Amino acid sequence: MNHVKKELRIAMIGYGFMGKAHSNAYKKVGHFFPSQYQPVLQVLCARDPARAKAFADTWGYKHVVTDWREAVMRDDVDAVDICTPNNLHCEIAIAAANAGKMVLCEKPLSMDNSDGERMVVAIEKAGVANTVWYNYRRIPAVTLAKQIIDEGRLGKIFHVRAQFLQDWTISPELPQGGEGLWRLDASAAGSGVTGDLLAHCIDTAQWLNGGISRVVARTETFVKKRKHTLTGNVEDVGIDDACEFLCDFTNGSLGNFESTRYARGHKAKFFFEINGENASMSWDLQDLHRLEFFDHSDESRLRGWRSIHVTDGDHPYMKNWWVPGLTIGYEHSFIHHLADFLKSLEDGTAAHPTFREALETGKVCDAVLKSAKSGQWEATGVKWSG
Ligand SMILES: NC(=O)c1ccc[n+]([C@@H]2O[C@H](COP(=O)([O-])OP(=O)(O)OC[C@H]3O[C@@H](n4cnc5c(N)ncnc54)[C@H](O)[C@@H]3O)[C@@H](O)[C@H]2O)c1
Repeated sequence: MNHVKKELRIAMIGYGFMGKAHSNAYKKVGHFFPSQYQPVLQVLCARDPARAKAFADTWGYKHVVTDWREAVMRDDVDAVDICTPNNLHCEIAIAAANAGKMVLCEKPLSMDNSDGERMVVAIEKAGVANTVWYNYRRIPAVTLAKQIIDEGRLGKIFHVRAQFLQDWTISPELPQGGEGLWRLDASAAGSGVTGDLLAHCIDTAQWLNGGISRVVARTETFVKKRKHTLTGNVEDVGIDDACEFLCDFTNGSLGNFESTRYARGHKAKFFFEINGENASMSWDLQDLHRLEFFDHSDESRLRGWRSIHVTDGDHPYMKNWWVPGLTIGYEHSFIHHLADFLKSLEDGTAAHPTFREALETGKVCDAVLKSAKSGQWEATGVKWSG
């Protein structure tokens, strides 16, 4: 038997939160999810050479560069992983695709959908493998929710409600822009909670329940001016601090979504509940290995919400981890995403969500922001195919 693996040489752009989460996934995936492909940490790109070198040494990257253009053009790179702030996704992805590299891009795909469309065109023209890191799909309890829906156990779905709540920007003294705070700067982030947090809820919801056809939204910016870290000036805040929207799904379900960074006490509460004619279920990131499930066909005397501990060998991804009853965590969602990406390379199939599928999430985000300005229902133009 031939055990020689195909190397998948990665150029990682950015070494922040996601640079670390993805590097961890590249290191571990082969130990738990055997594949013909072996990721190799080939190049780390970040602008500060000393800090980039320290990160590269910690994680075992072979080379360090300070210009992403050099990273994407190198002959010794097969795939480019974009872990930079949102305003760089488009240019890097298009350059990488044009150089014939596979592209793995963090979410949201782009600042807005005109950039997103250009990215999809470049990726599809180049015909390179691609995916966008909507990693929450790969938390086993969320994947189990998808299996339950696809088996038809909920029947007709009436309601999808989702929330993503945080509290880290309440202080008006917090500056905007620059390292760690680019999310508050519209020129780097594109939008606030809509692209940063609701994009996750929308990706998961459309994956579970199909396309969203129209939305009506409102946004609020509670702190309207903040000092900008890079200019030193007090500047207008251009992002949405909070966003709530109602929506219609093409299958007739009603959706109700909320995100804010002003929910005191909540650090990262991603919650969804889905109600169907036969059953309901809910999931909470703060208790991520559990799926709450209510089945109306249970005997009425014993009927009630059951809390499924999603850790058994027949639960999604779990046979590759520990023995039943032992939990895994947030970082494993990235390992699962990568394992599925490597499998798609082996099978010659698409790695979901593709850039084109992530664009459908971007269309909902754009319609939400448009509706918040117009005060009207706005069509999304989503063409969701699964
Ligand atoms: N999938 C998820 O759950 C998830 C979670 C967090 C962030 N994200 C996304 O990941 C991306 C990065 O977010 P983060 O939290 O890791 O941010 P971060 O601020 O922690 O890291 C960003 C990195 O980009 C680098 N960078 C900035 N400009 C650069 C340039 N010109 N060339 C090279 N490197 C540059 C910075 O030095 C830093 O290392 C964003 O698009 C964000 O929306 C996704």
